[in-house]
Amino acid sequence: MEQVLDVRDMMPKDRHTKIFGTFTNLKPGESFILINDHDPKPLLYQFQAEYYGKFDWWMLEQGPQVWRVMIAKRKIDDPKRTVTEFLQTDHKRLDTIFNRFTKAVKEKNWDEASHSFREFRIGLKRHIKAEEDILFPLFEQKTGMHEGGPTAVMRMEHQDIQELLDKILQATDAKDDIQAPSASNRIVNILTDHNMKEEHILYPESDEFLLEAERSDVVKKAQLI
Ligand SMILES: [Fe+2]
Ligand SMILES: [Fe+2]
Repeated sequence: MEQVLDVRDMMPKDRHTKIFGTFTNLKPGESFILINDHDPKPLLYQFQAEYYGKFDWWMLEQGPQVWRVMIAKRKIDDPKRTVTEFLQTDHKRLDTIFNRFTKAVKEKNWDEASHSFREFRIGLKRHIKAEEDILFPLFEQKTGMHEGGPTAVMRMEHQDIQELLDKILQATDAKDDIQAPSASNRIVNILTDHNMKEEHILYPESDEFLLEAERSDVVKKAQLI
């Protein structure tokens, strides 16, 4: 069972100590879920300043009343992490959540399906935003490739993905056991090919063009989205 730290009833001054204490006690590869009643951005700044390369920060629910973040201690402490490694890790993480969702749909466990799909949706939307607003403009600027380049294709595929995200959410909330699985199959087909292209072409090429400081800047900005 995932460790959960709900700080909503704690005194604000005690919260950060408790959170950093929990993080320090994690073994490499372990994580916990932080539940808070406001956007924990100041906390993220502190993590980035003190533990960059040592942690992952994955938003599972982003307000307006509740914020849930998975905070993980990375297996390797690597402040020089690449954009490829960071975004690939997110692809894998999202795949795991999506599998939880499809399993729940198959079992007609609609509460679990809706919960998992919301985590998947928020995660993928943030991931796409990080690519489109942070990574792609840098790639375009460094390579001079705009229209007709790989980022243009990726942006188009993102549109199809975003539409399917909304469709699946609707179908899941309506407990539609025909539409939910069929739209899910469609998104898997697009994502499998899309992620492969990013992981084999776009991300590694970006890493090649970017300086070390620019890579960590991409990761930090993506975490802050
Ligand atoms: Fe993408
Ligand atoms: Fe991606």
